[in-house]
Amino acid sequence: MSFNDKRIVVTGASSGVGQATALALMNAGAFVIGLDVKPANDNCNQFILCDLSNPDSIDEAVLQIKQPINGLANIAGVPGSLPADVVFKVNFLGLRYLTNLLLPKLADKACVVNVASTAGAGWRNRKAVSTSLLTLGGWHQCLARFQELSMNAVATYDFTKELVILYTMLVASNQRHRGVRVNSVSPGAVCTPILADFYDTMGNELLQSLKQQAGGRDAYPDEIANAILLMLDPRGFWVNGTDLIVDGGAEVLMNLEGLAIPPLPFN
Ligand code: NAI
Repeated sequence: MSFNDKRIVVTGASSGVGQATALALMNAGAFVIGLDVKPANDNCNQFILCDLSNPDSIDEAVLQIKQPINGLANIAGVPGSLPADVVFKVNFLGLRYLTNLLLPKLADKACVVNVASTAGAGWRNRKAVSTSLLTLGGWHQCLARFQELSMNAVATYDFTKELVILYTMLVASNQRHRGVRVNSVSPGAVCTPILADFYDTMGNELLQSLKQQAGGRDAYPDEIANAILLMLDPRGFWVNGTDLIVDGGAEVLMNLEGLAIPPLPFN
């Protein structure tokens, strides 16, 4: 896979999956523009400090991003151990605000990848409330409507990932005419600094059983990065508006329950 001469924006570039993605893209020849609230090391060609929970900070960041832009990987995210409003802002509002500002600047045939989560797999069950939020374009209006739902932070994490999956479909549908593909990638558990929070907030028993189904370990960040690069591949392929689950097969357990046969550990 070559990304020579391609300029790709990566959020969450300072840690975990975002850091691994930025490095993999640079190794594949891309010019990487990293955004994060924490400084990044040497894994970006250009780094912009940006707080995705603050629209003014996103406005300032976008002014510093030069065209052409051939790809956008929205990877930054926070777990449900933070306050619900922060989770909602970073994981959904900020992702959407940045994407909506960058869409007109994207080159034809550019690719967008939004990182959701298998925690968002239940998006069909809450589609009515999700779509009602998706129709509220304004930051403050949408935040106010979310606050009316009185959701706790753990539930908010799942909800934001459901919103990301649906927002991905929406943007795919309105960018199709110029060949811009928009997909989401939904990791299962990944060995990054926020994984311990997920074991606390989502439950050790559930995550242990999913880990067993996936072969006895959680994913490494570069295994998720490779899937993101696949979806960003500038050669393009006939995948658009879809959610790619990248969990080593763990989700099989959720779908088949007792019928699923745990594999022998394989590394
Ligand atoms: P991480 O904590 O290693 O990286 C998240 C990055 O987002 C950090 O660099 C952090 O500074 C940045 N970030 C946080 N708040 C921000 C803000 N206000 N503005 C800008 N940047 C901000 O976590 P990880 O695991 O790499 O997470 C990447 C994505 O993968 C997230 O969207 C997460 O929800 C998702 N994910 C992670 C899983 C896991 O088990 N680690 C499982 C499923 C999804």
